[in-house]
Amino acid sequence: MKLFIDTGNLKEVEALVPLGIIDGITTNPSLLAKEGGDYRAILKKICQLVKGPTSAEVVATDAEGMIREGRDLATIDEHIVVKVPFTRDGVKACKALSSEGKRVNVTLVFSPTQALIAAKVGATYVSPFVGRLDDIATPGMDLIQEIVEIYENYQFTTEILVASVRHPIHVVQAARMGADICTCPAAVIDACFKHPLTDIGLEKFLKDWEKAQAVKA
Ligand code: E4P
Repeated sequence: MKLFIDTGNLKEVEALVPLGIIDGITTNPSLLAKEGGDYRAILKKICQLVKGPTSAEVVATDAEGMIREGRDLATIDEHIVVKVPFTRDGVKACKALSSEGKRVNVTLVFSPTQALIAAKVGATYVSPFVGRLDDIATPGMDLIQEIVEIYENYQFTTEILVASVRHPIHVVQAARMGADICTCPAAVIDACFKHPLTDIGLEKFLKDWEKAQAVKA
């Protein structure tokens, strides 16, 4: 399973990319708004750091505006993936942009029918938001299972990008279900590293080693 960081923050990208586990980045207007500054420059820098698919979302709400914006975003860097919201206009824009060879990530997906439609219009990625479903007492990961089944039935090539990830259990479930990608906030990636037994074990190994060296000396 590919691992993306869900961020617009350069420091987070700079800290995590050298680990060699990051395959791409997702941003959204809220994440980029938090950073301030020139969003195009931020996106360019992120692309140069990660050298992998980097989703940049349109803010137009009509199909023509989304297509125009999508074409423009794609000029920032070869790694840019145009992100469009799942609306009727977003679906039209996805069809148009993917027909001209641009990679499109259809976002704000909350149902299997939306995911089916996104695949039919050639989305490269579909982003179901699991955490926001959990927030309204609807099991978000059930949606991932349904999309995996539907896409397998028809061999759709659209990649399932699990979004709105809140904790490592989402990551584990996504991997067990065979989702293609999990996009995580940096804090969730940090949490995936942690295990108290690793820390306790390492401390003991090093202490035992030091003791043995002291005896020899
Ligand atoms: C995905 O691409 C979105 O940026 C993101 O996962 C939204 O997550 P949130 O529900 O934590 O805002």
